[in-house]
Amino acid sequence: MTTEVTKTFVASPSGPVNGDILVPGDKSCSHRSIMFGSLAEGTTHVSGFLPGEDCLATMNAFKAMGVNIEGPNENNEVTIEGKGLHGLTAPKAQLNVGNSGTSIRLLAGILAGQSFASEMIGDNSLNKRPMRRVIDPLRLMGANIEASEDGTPPVTSHGLGENLLKSIHYDLPMASAQVKSCVLLAGMYADGVTSVTEPGVTRDHTERMLKAFGYPVTVEGNKISIEGGHKLTACDFLVPGDISSATFFMVAGLIAKSGEITIRNVGMNPTRIGAINILKQMQGDLTVINERMAGGEPVADIVVRASNLQGIEVNASDVPLAIDEFPAIFVAAACAQGTFKLRDAEELRVKESDRIQSMADGLVELGIDCTVYDDGIDIIGGQLTSGVVNSHDDHRIAMSFAIASLRSSGDIKILDCDNVATSFPNFVQLANEVGLSVVVE
Ligand code: S3P
Repeated sequence: MTTEVTKTFVASPSGPVNGDILVPGDKSCSHRSIMFGSLAEGTTHVSGFLPGEDCLATMNAFKAMGVNIEGPNENNEVTIEGKGLHGLTAPKAQLNVGNSGTSIRLLAGILAGQSFASEMIGDNSLNKRPMRRVIDPLRLMGANIEASEDGTPPVTSHGLGENLLKSIHYDLPMASAQVKSCVLLAGMYADGVTSVTEPGVTRDHTERMLKAFGYPVTVEGNKISIEGGHKLTACDFLVPGDISSATFFMVAGLIAKSGEITIRNVGMNPTRIGAINILKQMQGDLTVINERMAGGEPVADIVVRASNLQGIEVNASDVPLAIDEFPAIFVAAACAQGTFKLRDAEELRVKESDRIQSMADGLVELGIDCTVYDDGIDIIGGQLTSGVVNSHDDHRIAMSFAIASLRSSGDIKILDCDNVATSFPNFVQLANEVGLSVVVE
């Protein structure tokens, strides 16, 4: 038997945090740039692409379906020779999308609309995640698609042959941009107008990108409608910096004993700024400057200064807007005065790991008092100690505990950190540049 050797981070007490940095491209936008570019007519040029493993998995899936894609080069530029909505060809093997929930759920919508059969698989973490949330609406649309009996991958689409999908109206049972996007993408292959209503605002990159690629989409309040049969037209697409990656450095700058860090070119899409709202409410000294538009998305620079954070009750409306940022926000909470309370966040339990439990386990190991609820957590701020924590193969848990070392009394050893490469390949380098001390073993 071979034992897999995985990366461990050893993060030591450090700081101050100072610097002027760029974070890598937005993961959600990078995935979608490949999907839309591949299905468009003409050649799409993407810049600012995130060369993380998740987005490369999406790229490889489209390459396996006959799309010519070049890059990313050293400047993170990608060129995609679009095949049009009906130009993909049957993959010769299973499509392995690794750790990436966005790949499998959005691709499910695209593959459901193809004439040919295909099957998607993932890694150990993805293979435990719920897929019925996309299978159910797709089957209502007449798709011949299924997951395994317990609702997890593989996701198998048997293909439509000559048929079209049926248009539906779908009330999303949960606030999920992946499910919304899956249905909208399938809607491009349906026989009429497909619409979705969402119970809370979720990231709207799909809607924005449909427009950027010239595909008509209607947004009326929380209802989004798309008619089948139109086409996507290639364009030049600029990916903004990822606010989810930036959040690790926002929290680092806030919890550091001193210092000031500027994070440039951060995507400020209003459906993504929950972390900024929450950290400001916690008395974090964050200043948003140079607000501008780039590639159809608002971007800005964020100046962060060391702050005395306070525990708060998170507003329910901020939860979907900060859904990927909670692991880092929990570290801010552990360093704050008083109690931080989060509810209405049950979706955190079905991310790359159960992020409520993974973070609670690690924080308790580091001496922080936490109470876990089905849909949230209470965290009482205190002194972080040294300890060994498990990332549960979850990139955001690994990076959050690395940041926590800024305020720990001794080293934090973080196990299973390989997956940091899915979203933030240069995290360790950047962390060390701004004043943290993280060694990879
Ligand atoms: C994403 C949507 C969110 C988010 C994920 C990326 C997307 O997932 O957590 O990292 O790109 O649409 P849910 O739709 O499951 O909330």
